[in-house]
Amino acid sequence: MGKRALITGITGQDGSYLADFLLEQGYEVFGLVRRSSTLNFQRIRHIQDRITILSADLLDQNSLLTAMAEAEPDEVYNLAAQSFVPTSWTQPVLTGEATALGVMRMLEAIKRVTPKARFYQASSSEMFGKVRESPQTERTPFYPRSPYGVAKVYGHWITVNYRESYGLFAVSGILFNHESPRRGLEFVTRKVSYGVARIKLGLATELPLGNLDAKRDWGFAGDYVRAMWQMLQEEVPSDYVVGTGVQHSVRDLIELAFEHVGLDWREHVVQDERLLRPAEVDTLVADASKARRQLGWEPTVDFDGLVRMMVDADVELLSSPRSEPGAHDP
Ligand code: NAP
Ligand code: GDD
Repeated sequence: MGKRALITGITGQDGSYLADFLLEQGYEVFGLVRRSSTLNFQRIRHIQDRITILSADLLDQNSLLTAMAEAEPDEVYNLAAQSFVPTSWTQPVLTGEATALGVMRMLEAIKRVTPKARFYQASSSEMFGKVRESPQTERTPFYPRSPYGVAKVYGHWITVNYRESYGLFAVSGILFNHESPRRGLEFVTRKVSYGVARIKLGLATELPLGNLDAKRDWGFAGDYVRAMWQMLQEEVPSDYVVGTGVQHSVRDLIELAFEHVGLDWREHVVQDERLLRPAEVDTLVADASKARRQLGWEPTVDFDGLVRMMVDADVELLSSPRSEPGAHDP
């Protein structure tokens, strides 16, 4: 019989790619979804009849205990979080509840209901924040710069702590920024690819952006969900940094995206002070040697390929005849 996997955050970017991947591997997939007044299944519509949806919320311990009992998973991937950094300043308490304490609630549910299940925690390069060294490895000290980053540090250490306290097979994947055509519209790569497509098609003329000097290590989400799975197939639980090792600035991103459709970014990008952050993470770049060596993980899409893929997808999306509100959301 195939293995059973429970994914929290299945309606998000990573959850949808991971569900695709696990279905291909023959898994029975359960997805945890919180209640909302409008359906947000855009990213999982294509696999909706092949997965089992369970209603639960990271803020509600009982719902997690029930979901765990219903799914009886072999593997649990905790991808749910309040994941947008700027929102963590406007909603710091909610961010702490979901992104920090939510991890502990998941671990408690596993400990009580399915202690043999293997657990993946979606940790983040945001934990390195004001970086202490470059590139960043599993041993680089954390210095988070946002309530989101601080919450992720809690999630990381509570995962390590439950592994060491209770012998759970729990791993923390410290993933650098990863993107795709399914990325939320508010994150910078998608904001740029969507904005470029709108300008190219004559639907807009300007693209407001914040800090163009920030540097990130951007990869393709489809590659990163494979690393999550690989971590849970190891004999011994351990933590891994995952990233491409190549860094680009937001300015590089816009240059390439506009150039790809034959436009000059200087004629369209405007700087908006309101998009600057109270504390910025200036530079991130991964040293993923451990993941490459131990898991055999390699990225298959480079920065140029990623940007071109996202711009092409948005041009196609916005060229389609569907025009009802929300039809063009990812
Ligand atoms: P995303 O697209 O924002 O998806 C977040 C998911 O979490 C959504 O399915 C959302 O549900 C769900 N969620 C939020 N609050 C919840 C709650 N209280 N209870 C249950 N579900 C809740 O994020 P992503 O880019 O796929 O990232 C996946 C995970 O990896 C996140 O934990 C993120 O912090 C982390 N991470 C991401 C990156 C990256 O570059 N993408 C890098 C490092 C770490 P709704 O659809 O209902 O909102
Ligand atoms: N979102 C956004 N919008 N970012 C902008 C903009 C803008 O208009 N202009 C410049 N930026 C800069 C931000 O200041 C930041 O330095 C960089 O672009 C990347 O911003 P995001 O795409 O919002 O991602 P993030 O790095 O803050 O966080 C993402 O990656 C983390 C991993 O390092 C999220 O996916 C987090 O959930 C994830 O943990």
